[in-house]
Amino acid sequence: MHRFFILWMLCISIFSKGFTQSIPAIIPTPISTIQKEGHFELNDETILYYDSASINTKNFLESFLLQHYEIKLKAKPYNGDFKAINNSTNTIMLHEQAAEKETYLLNVEQNKIIIEGSETGVFYGMQSLIQLLPTEISNKKIPCLTIFDAPRFGYRGLHLDVARHFFPVSFIKKYIDFLALHKLNTFHWHLTDDQGWRIEIKKYPLLTKIGSIRSQTLIGPYGSNKYDGKKYTGFYTQAEIKEVIQYASERYINIIPEIEMPGHSLAALASYPFLGCTKGPYKVLETWGVADDALCAGNDSTFQFYQNVLDEIISLFPSKFIHIGGDECAKTRWKECKVCQKKMKAHNLKDEHELQGFFIGLIEKHINKKGKKIIGWDEIMEGGLAPNAAVMSWRGEEGGIAAAKQQHEVVMTPGTPLYFDHTQSINEDSVTQGGLNTLKAVYNYNPIPESLSLHETPYILGAQANMWTEYMDNEKKVEYMLFPRIAALSEALWTKLDNKNYNKFEAKITSIFARYDLWKINYSKAYFDIESHVINNDSGEIFWQLISKNKLGKIYYTAPNQSEKEINEAVIISQSGEYKAILKDEKNNPLSSEISQTFFINKATGKPISISVQPNKSYAADGAKTLVDGIQNKMGMPKSSQFLGFWGDDVDVVIDLQEETDVNSILLHSFEQKASWIYRPESVKFMVGKNEKEFVELKEEIKISGASNLIYTQKVEKLTRFIKLSIKNIGLIPENNPGAGNNTWIFLDEIEVK
Ligand code: ACM
Ligand code: ZN
Repeated sequence: MHRFFILWMLCISIFSKGFTQSIPAIIPTPISTIQKEGHFELNDETILYYDSASINTKNFLESFLLQHYEIKLKAKPYNGDFKAINNSTNTIMLHEQAAEKETYLLNVEQNKIIIEGSETGVFYGMQSLIQLLPTEISNKKIPCLTIFDAPRFGYRGLHLDVARHFFPVSFIKKYIDFLALHKLNTFHWHLTDDQGWRIEIKKYPLLTKIGSIRSQTLIGPYGSNKYDGKKYTGFYTQAEIKEVIQYASERYINIIPEIEMPGHSLAALASYPFLGCTKGPYKVLETWGVADDALCAGNDSTFQFYQNVLDEIISLFPSKFIHIGGDECAKTRWKECKVCQKKMKAHNLKDEHELQGFFIGLIEKHINKKGKKIIGWDEIMEGGLAPNAAVMSWRGEEGGIAAAKQQHEVVMTPGTPLYFDHTQSINEDSVTQGGLNTLKAVYNYNPIPESLSLHETPYILGAQANMWTEYMDNEKKVEYMLFPRIAALSEALWTKLDNKNYNKFEAKITSIFARYDLWKINYSKAYFDIESHVINNDSGEIFWQLISKNKLGKIYYTAPNQSEKEINEAVIISQSGEYKAILKDEKNNPLSSEISQTFFINKATGKPISISVQPNKSYAADGAKTLVDGIQNKMGMPKSSQFLGFWGDDVDVVIDLQEETDVNSILLHSFEQKASWIYRPESVKFMVGKNEKEFVELKEEIKISGASNLIYTQKVEKLTRFIKLSIKNIGLIPENNPGAGNNTWIFLDEIEVK
């Protein structure tokens, strides 16, 4: 047994009895923390001994303490004389030991702190140490304790898209520090896309001269046609790239570069139009989504070009994995391109998916020859998975599961809940992309799917959160979208399942936020938002319930045309209109932002409702009742908590008005956003009945209004008790649309009866 572990066993036996102090708010939660009496006091006399393997750790600690606590440690190299140091007082010792790759032991005693472990482990031990420091900087006391720790997953990733918006080296370094502070070890740098090419390639200077510039940028929601009219540009020189790689390696972070191909390549096509099937002209894309143009996969000169690009990438980045993209490649041009079609015939490829597989296969061969591996988005499986490829599963976990079953390495990064461009609050007032990924959802994510066997799970290397920057044009917004979800991510990836507990995580939130204040981070306080729930218990009435995790205040609400009142449990909603709520302290000062909710009360509101199939669990809201809860989506983008999402299913809905009711019209609200695979129903049948078995279909023409927030209106003019709607899905996503060939979503919102 290593001395390291003997020491550890000793610690357990000495200290395992009884301390009831509050557990320190270390993120991610370590394997074992044993608290002891007393504290170590850090001051300018503290000597930091470090061995030759711990220089990076010493440098980080020195600059962190100077920056945040104004402490200047006396750092001294140490040459193996453990005893001499052991007898000194007020020392911190960093000491490499033979141990597992990322394991450490941190021992804080009244007169000394020792961090031991592998070289990387010592760095992580230091990360835990700095979280033991109080957040009031005048207090520099560190509680005595012993921590033993190691990660659950070897791959703990965070991604940043610098194509949609560019961030300078200074911010990339800051971002890498964010990873280091959370014991993440992989930075996925998304360097090229339709919207910009951001890395200098010496052999092809136009990639940055032309490809890094776009004429303007979409600033409204997807499909809104709202642009800023401003030229946008930015790229990294190879010297800057090297500087960032060095910076990351000093923090034990591997950088995986991503060069997108064969789709998401408009920036490259605009720079070198010969790479495309139509030869252009092309322009760097100003909006998001999936473009029709892709690299010509039939042309050998495309491969030659990308091999040359990749050779420069490989010589820059030490990473074993090179990310080659592979997602969302439209096949429109390939179908019409003689060169692509000829290539398919020559290689017996049965369709364009196989052509994509062929393309990725050739790229893989080249990368493997250079001693590296490819990793790509899960679409790279569609035309047959390249022999040694690793898969990043983003369209849910299915791709990752299939790849693991084929014994390929996998990184899980499902859009729900690991896309950090999605909002973390239902009260979000800035534009975001996609649905809702709350702190809790991120925390509770488990990268190991239940459907994998014990032999298959080792292929899941870990997981990663993705920061697509469509609506993040400044550093503060990136921080806001990242914090505190990065803390939840780090526990999901580092902390052993037995130690993972959301309630315990919540208990640390105030300390975590205090630390962010110290670090001057712009973080989201969505956690303390007033939570608003609509309670619909089939009673024919609906209730608005408001809850705050901040127990220091009281919640007040205002109903339409009424004065403010303190809320007791829940408000009965009896009239349509806008209701508002806010948390205030006893001096009437606001403790939260004001939230508002508009209710639309009609004859169906709060009435019993049933559906023939259950919605998909990602978009299940409050079940069928959500369709008659008096809330309608009025925004350009759906709040997924207010929609029922059905993936590929047809659905029947029956509402019981509880008595014969005079009905003039029935309205169904649904949503369409093709980029998110959400389509309007193929058809909606409206029916009425005096009982819940026999219905007559209403034959009057159905009026459809709206562009994305659709309303289907059916005239009725009947006395009826039951109402039935039969809603039919259109089937698979048509060719040349994002997600072509997958099931479509139907998103249903409110059903109104007037
Ligand atoms: C992706 O989000 N298209 C990988
Ligand atoms: Zn072609």
